Amino acid sequence: MKSFFHVSDIGDLNAALAEAMQVKATPFAWKHLGENKTIMLVFFNSSLRTRLSSQKAALNLGMNPIVLNIGQDSWKLETEMGVVMDGDKSEHLREAIPVMASYCDIIGVRSFAGLKDREYDYAETVLQQFIEFSGKPVISLESATVHPCQAFADLITIEEHKKVKRPKVVLTWAPHPKALPQAVPNSFAEWMNAADVDFVITHPHGYELDPQFVGDAVVEYDQMKALEGADFVYAKNWSCPGVTDPSQYGEILSKDMGWTVDAAHMAVTNNAFFMHCLPVRRNMIVSDEVIDAPTSLVIPEAANRVVSAQVVMKRMLENLQK
Ligand code: CP
Repeated sequence: MKSFFHVSDIGDLNAALAEAMQVKATPFAWKHLGENKTIMLVFFNSSLRTRLSSQKAALNLGMNPIVLNIGQDSWKLETEMGVVMDGDKSEHLREAIPVMASYCDIIGVRSFAGLKDREYDYAETVLQQFIEFSGKPVISLESATVHPCQAFADLITIEEHKKVKRPKVVLTWAPHPKALPQAVPNSFAEWMNAADVDFVITHPHGYELDPQFVGDAVVEYDQMKALEGADFVYAKNWSCPGVTDPSQYGEILSKDMGWTVDAAHMAVTNNAFFMHCLPVRRNMIVSDEVIDAPTSLVIPEAANRVVSAQVVMKRMLENLQK
């Protein structure tokens, strides 16, 4: 595996899930693969799970992880090409990336969408520079449009908990006080479309996700109708993707608390499991009683972030040995 952004990068999903279960059962069985290898984990944005699970996965594989927090541990980096660098950014990505690449074998990058310029974000401008100028395998640790390590962990969690062969999975928008990127719902939709599930997306009008991620999913604007009979409810906020009106890209169009997932919402499901990628705003996205119920999977989901990251890094290390 050269890079990890999309579900297509992981190949056969059943094989990837089987490998994930093996990795989970025997996490230290491939410790030899990472001997004398280094992974650089570059964070332009905050993180708890991605930072820690990526480090843990690297350590399980015998690799040395180096974490760099851009703008805190390093110089502030300019990401735009062709600008006069007379502001507060001291170094350009054009130099910083090959320098970082010279110290490592694999690079992971977290770089959120700016939510100002749809074209810039959806071109994955920062991540593409890492691919172009590093010459190393690159993992998206949540970039402008995708969060594949999260979606893979979500799929592993669904596989572990499903009670029927083909469960109904519902992705529901929920309110949030701040404008958030679309990376998590984009990747979740992309991976669910590739998985053996019945997949439904529900959100208020104006929050339509990019068609490349929606694929063949059913889109139902009536949240309660969408949730009927669900086996898994995946809640997430996202800002306006600007699909129907590009001028609204990144805006908050609704804070309707009627979309908060509470006991009344869960009551119409098939005793569904509740999922969220975390961090979560309690009693905005989900009520206390739902997230604290035994059917909440938010902690196992986060724990599986080590497994998904480890499968991806393991495959990259195996590829480096060829
Ligand atoms: N879910 C997730 O990516 O969490 P962090 O932002 O804390 O890494």
